[in-house]
Amino acid sequence: MNACIRAVVRTANYNGIEVYGAIKGYEGMIDGNITKLENEDVANIIHRGGTILQSARSARFREKEWRSKAYEQIKQKGINGIVAIGGDGTFTGASIFGSEFDIPMVGVPGTIDNDLYGTDKTIGYDSALNTAMEAIDKIRDTANSHQRLFLVEVMGRDAGFLALRSGIAGGAIGVLVPETSGDKEKLFETLRKGWTRTRKSMIAVVAEGEGDGAMALAKDIKVQFPDYDTKVSILGHMQRGGNPTCGDRVLASQMGLAAVEGLMAGKDKVMTGLLGREIEFVPLDQSIKHHKDLSNELVRMVDILAS
Ligand code: F6P
Repeated sequence: MNACIRAVVRTANYNGIEVYGAIKGYEGMIDGNITKLENEDVANIIHRGGTILQSARSARFREKEWRSKAYEQIKQKGINGIVAIGGDGTFTGASIFGSEFDIPMVGVPGTIDNDLYGTDKTIGYDSALNTAMEAIDKIRDTANSHQRLFLVEVMGRDAGFLALRSGIAGGAIGVLVPETSGDKEKLFETLRKGWTRTRKSMIAVVAEGEGDGAMALAKDIKVQFPDYDTKVSILGHMQRGGNPTCGDRVLASQMGLAAVEGLMAGKDKVMTGLLGREIEFVPLDQSIKHHKDLSNELVRMVDILAS
């Protein structure tokens, strides 16, 4: 997100447009905690995780009364266009706010879950993927040495993008995600086959939103397959931090630049979406309403490569 904030600030200033940052996101808009950002304010942040604006969820922004307050605050500052970086909740807020008040809104998709329709990738996804993959690689050393079965839980409350891709990259014997049914049975089938001559370790990747998560799955496995030495590793919030990858920094920079140029060109209630190699403007409502599906091809690949 920092790389995106930097790109927004630099692109705006390059074009002679003043730019302000709302501290804590929508909360800052409500409280008037809005600060002018110059190019030097965003120096040395491109490599840092998180966001210098500390934006987080805002319960108050769900209520019209507070949104009106936010509108008063931004009008006082003479702000006449907003770039909102975030996921589903941020975009829902942006869409409602933009419909209620006369203010153009451009969303930039930022979530490690990659679960936003209308963009191939979201900011943060690639970094989280690489963090998860590196963790799986490290866990594999123990799994290998002691012939253990590891269940690695990655983030993804409602979506399995992170689990699927990190599972493939980490050589998992199974990937369990909220979107598909029968993953657990498939894993149990693999476990029934036991250790093969080629298999030295077994790692399955579980999305946190799959059933009751990896802990619950491990309990089932211990009952049904007591011979396996089963361990659980929950990666948790480490996936949301750390230095962003090159891919994420470039994507965030592209999207931040496109968001400002979009506002300058009169775009409103759209999201910057990466479609193939191009950044395109996708209606915010489309992104909110539609569900982004996992790639069936990748799901199929897990089974074949784990065989
Ligand atoms: O927004 C994405 C996500 O990473 C989910 O996968 C996860 O469940 C959630 O955020 C955790 O957020 P929090 O720490 O705020 O509960």
